[in-house]
Amino acid sequence: MIQELGFFEAVEARRSVRIFDQESEFDHSVVQKCLEAAILSPNSSNMQLYNFIRVPESSPLKGPIAKLCMGQKAATTARELVVVVTRRDLWKSRAKANFEYIQSSYEGKPDKKLKQALGYYGKLVPTLYSKYPGWSLIKKLISFTVGLKRPMVREVGETEVRISVHKSAALASMTFMLAMKASGYDTCPMEGHDSKRISKLLNLPSGAEICMIIGCGKGLPEGVYGKRFRIPSEELILEV
Ligand SMILES: Cc1cc2nc3c(=O)[nH]c(=O)nc-3n(C[C@H](O)[C@H](O)[C@H](O)COP(=O)(O)O)c2cc1C
Repeated sequence: MIQELGFFEAVEARRSVRIFDQESEFDHSVVQKCLEAAILSPNSSNMQLYNFIRVPESSPLKGPIAKLCMGQKAATTARELVVVVTRRDLWKSRAKANFEYIQSSYEGKPDKKLKQALGYYGKLVPTLYSKYPGWSLIKKLISFTVGLKRPMVREVGETEVRISVHKSAALASMTFMLAMKASGYDTCPMEGHDSKRISKLLNLPSGAEICMIIGCGKGLPEGVYGKRFRIPSEELILEV
């Protein structure tokens, strides 16, 4: 019987596990449950620009994708793979969904707060996410110029927008991995893969990018490669 863990127990117990048990039963519905938890994660502007593509062991794509994870055992022995895909390309429909949600769920008279929220998804988000030739440079120049006079967000170029979308996908991935551990299963995040070939195999649209691929299963003890190593916390956690 699988025992559920509390938050700190799950954080402590989670390791990247590279070899998964092939014998014991794997409850694929737990992956769905943990992904449902993952999508509750904080994400930039609530744009939810991601997909989580489930590739269970029964899928004809599981073997080929595992091979394209450079044959890593964390992928070949995984009972299910989750391909975390960023969807920067969906910004218009996500902005529209947020706009319409705010509009329809607002109670009371239209006021400044509502106008601001609608302006956020109607104007600011399109300014940040739109793509025209030279637009990235123009945004950076505007940010630089405004920033000379007052505090200003600097991460406005196309690269920073992509990073922001990946940040949100990575946060959701973390929630997923902790939820899996709390549910008695193990995971291994992987960026060691041929993203170009996997994108083609999954027929991903241009503009979609693979953030990471997560191998899932019941870990075997030999799947944990060594004791956990961390730099002393004084070097990582600073206070000013
Ligand atoms: C974005 C990311 C990519 C990773 N890619 C790989 C990978 O391709 N193969 C692998 O074996 N481990 C991979 N790892 C796992 C790390 O090596 C592991 O998290 C780190 O060594 C710390 O160990 P722990 O997760 O057991 O605490 C990745 C981790 C992250 C967060």
